[in-house]
Amino acid sequence: MRILVAYGTKRGGTRGLAEMIAQDITNAGLEADIREARRVKSLAGYDAAIIGGSAYMFRWHRDVVRLVKKHATELRSIPTWLFCSGPVGAGAENLDEYEKLAPKHMLAAATDLNARGTKVFGGRLEPNARGFIAAKMAKNSAGDWRDPQLVDKWVHDVVASLGVSHS
Ligand SMILES: Cc1cc2nc3c(=O)[nH]c(=O)nc-3n(C[C@H](O)[C@H](O)[C@H](O)COP(=O)(O)O)c2cc1C
Repeated sequence: MRILVAYGTKRGGTRGLAEMIAQDITNAGLEADIREARRVKSLAGYDAAIIGGSAYMFRWHRDVVRLVKKHATELRSIPTWLFCSGPVGAGAENLDEYEKLAPKHMLAAATDLNARGTKVFGGRLEPNARGFIAAKMAKNSAGDWRDPQLVDKWVHDVVASLGVSHS
C-alpha cells in the first residue's frame, strides 16, 4: 500500500510533522511518499493520502488548499486524512479545544472529500522567526509543540483504519 504524505509549509515546521508521519507509516510496513504539496502533479498510484499544512491567521497553507481542490475527485476515491500545524504557546497546551479553531478550509475540505479524519497538531515557532508579526509572536510564544508521541498515536489509528495486514 502506497500512501501520499503531502505538506504545505512556510517555516519548515509542517515538513517536520510530515516526516514523522512518513516515518511512522514506513515503520508500520507501508510505503510513504512524502512530497511538497505544490509539487504533487498526480495522485495516480496512491492508495491513501495524508495532507497537511500550516495554519496562519486561521488559514490553511495555500498549497494544500490548492491540492485538495485540484485533486478532489481522486481524493474522494481513496482514504484521505487532513491535518494542520498548528497552535503554539498557550493554544498548544489544549489542542482538543483548539480543534474548533482549525482552518475552515481544512474542515470544509474534509466534508467535501469525505475524509476519514482531521487532526490539529501543535506547531513550532522559532525564536528568530522572520516577519513582523512572527517575530512579535516569537517573543512570547517561541517553542516547539510538535509532539512525536501524538503523531505516532494518530498514524497508528490511521494505519488501523486502513485495515491492511502487514508483517
Ligand atoms: C503570524 C502567525 C500567525 C499564526 N496563526 C496561526 C493560526 O491562526 N492558527 C494556528 O493554529 N497557528 C497559527 N500560527 C502558528 C503556526 O501555524 C505554527 O508556527 C506552525 O507550526 C508553522 O508551520 P510552518 O513552520 O510549517 O510554517 C501562526 C504563526 C504565526 C507566525
